[in-house]
Amino acid sequence: MKIIVLGSAAGGGFPQWNCNCHNCRGVRGGTVAATPRTQSSIAVSANGTDWVLINASPDILAQIRATPALQPARAMRDTGISAVILMDAQIDHVTGLLMLREGRSLPLYCTPAVWNELNTSLPLAPVLSHYCGLRWQSLETIGDGPAMQPVHVPGIDGVRFRPLALSSKAPPYSSHRARPEVGDNVGLLIENVATGKSVFYAPGLGALEPQVYAALRQADCVLVDGTFWSGDEMIRHGFSVKSAADMGHLPQSGEGGMIAVLDSLAPRAPRKILIHINNTNPILDKASEPRAILARHGIEVAFDGMEIVV
Ligand code: MLT
Ligand code: MN
Ligand code: ZN
Repeated sequence: MKIIVLGSAAGGGFPQWNCNCHNCRGVRGGTVAATPRTQSSIAVSANGTDWVLINASPDILAQIRATPALQPARAMRDTGISAVILMDAQIDHVTGLLMLREGRSLPLYCTPAVWNELNTSLPLAPVLSHYCGLRWQSLETIGDGPAMQPVHVPGIDGVRFRPLALSSKAPPYSSHRARPEVGDNVGLLIENVATGKSVFYAPGLGALEPQVYAALRQADCVLVDGTFWSGDEMIRHGFSVKSAADMGHLPQSGEGGMIAVLDSLAPRAPRKILIHINNTNPILDKASEPRAILARHGIEVAFDGMEIVV
């Protein structure tokens, strides 16, 4: 089973179009040791030809151009993308669906909460019904959650997807932003059916709930929320009044932060990778002290084009 990181940045990408923070200015000018990154998405395949897109980033067209495997060219019109699974209804994870409108109707796996957003507050589904249309497949909780039904995507026989509901935030545009619902956000355990090995993917992880710990403990590779180094990163930059927690993201540093969480998995040693990295995060700079701290803890930083084989 192979995973390709199509986009490793958080919303806004890196550099962000209007940003002159240390990282964004530095990567534009070549004065910071960092590489540009597109917005948040990965692709998964067992046979290298048929792929499931996890999240549809606004940068999807550039990501497909950069990823020959997604363009197998078996017919005059063709794609390697068999289906799309959404982790939430955030703009950086769903608006790429609009860019796939020239194709055939894709199966779209998401929770009822996310599907509802895509039919009301951010009505991509009714808009796309005038183009390719979307074939919704519900990601269902078992009882009140957080456990969810495993998913088999037709044509992707070598991979099993086990979503789990996460406590986090509905998108800022949601009519229930202040009242989170089960299914606003999910994480995904992606299993290689042949070997039983798995990757846990959770680009938005606000709290370490029991089901999250269980998934982190089970997985052979964890690909988790790398949005912010510190809880007040956006506030200190003067970019926002919201903390990482307000935005549903667990920062890396500090007590109970992601580094401490990943350390607590010892003596088990899954491969540990941070993804969905905001442009303000100092870990983007390979020469930074935070990046050196990650290296000492055996934690990698995802980049666009990174391949993970399990
Ligand atoms: C988030 O995950 O909080 C987003 O990256 C914000 C956004 O897309 O605007
Ligand atoms: Mn995001
Ligand atoms: Zn920036």
